[in-house]
Amino acid sequence: MGKIILTGDRPTGNLHLGHYVGSLKTRIELQNQGDFDKYYIMIADTQALTDNAKNTDKVKNNLIQVAIDYISAGIDPEKVCVFIQSMVPELFEITGYFMNLVSLSRLQRNPTIKDEIKQRKFEKSIPIGFLNYPVSQAADILAFNANLIPVGEDQLPMIEQTREIAHTFNNTYGELFGNVEALLPKKKICARLPGLDGKLKMSKSLGNCIYLCDDEKTVREKIMSAYTDPNHIKISDPGQIEGNIVFSYLDAFCEEKHFAKFLPQYKNLDELKEHYQRGGLGDVKVKLFLNDIVQELLTPIREKRKELEKDIDSVYEILFKNSQKAREVAQKTISKMKNLIGINYANFLKK
Ligand code: TRP
Repeated sequence: MGKIILTGDRPTGNLHLGHYVGSLKTRIELQNQGDFDKYYIMIADTQALTDNAKNTDKVKNNLIQVAIDYISAGIDPEKVCVFIQSMVPELFEITGYFMNLVSLSRLQRNPTIKDEIKQRKFEKSIPIGFLNYPVSQAADILAFNANLIPVGEDQLPMIEQTREIAHTFNNTYGELFGNVEALLPKKKICARLPGLDGKLKMSKSLGNCIYLCDDEKTVREKIMSAYTDPNHIKISDPGQIEGNIVFSYLDAFCEEKHFAKFLPQYKNLDELKEHYQRGGLGDVKVKLFLNDIVQELLTPIREKRKELEKDIDSVYEILFKNSQKAREVAQKTISKMKNLIGINYANFLKK
């Protein structure tokens, strides 16, 4: 079997820099390397509804936003099948068969689910659909027999659970699903980019994000207000790098070429860090450097977005066409599953 890549995002907000370094960048690189047989990116609207059942407008409005974010960041829908989860109802059917292979307590032990339940303050009223979303995520992946999943670190428990489900299915009914591997970003800082406020994670619910669609002024203001070292008051004070968000972002985004272009007094990030730690380097200078780097990344994305926004219909059309293609693949998988489960009744006809 060849290399089949699949990944996705919930459409609950615009994509931000955490998404970009955590997964989008890798996705674009994979696309441009071209070393794959099939490549899917799913906009996980049904998964988003598992904790937004009464908030459908949010999901509906963000679906097209996320599609625009993908394409303007460099995903080419001619090369990658970008599709809408709810337009592939077969995924629900597969989920149904998988649900019989997973225990309630196993779901309750999933660390990501546990965190999210706490965050959302569900207490004792956890929607069944929400608790079950790792099973539905396994269906998303296995419907396409995907074996490489580029994701951020928080998705590892989902991949682990997918592997278990594939294994249980194969053991129970016969070999069908292959191995599933997560692909994490190379730099550790990119796997979980901290928020502007210094919190552990950039996350729309924490309101500490720089969005791919933020305009130039907003990005600059956000960077200028980012959390640094609270004890670095005078320029001459020695500064701390650990927990200093501006340096965390430089770790994630800065390359040597940026120094030649924007800050030629320094050769590389080590030199800059060293000066900051020694004292004599002000926050503003470092922030302006970061701003130059981030603006350089976001400017072409913003321009492409403007173009796409003029013709939203054609973005929807791409999504619809791709969802149809995805359906056909998922239908084949269901047929194979039913054969193995022993409920493909059409096979029982004598003639
Ligand atoms: N759970 C992912 C998120 O929170 C979205 C998602 C749904 C996904 N199905 C997937 C990711 C399948 C990778 C593979 O953003």
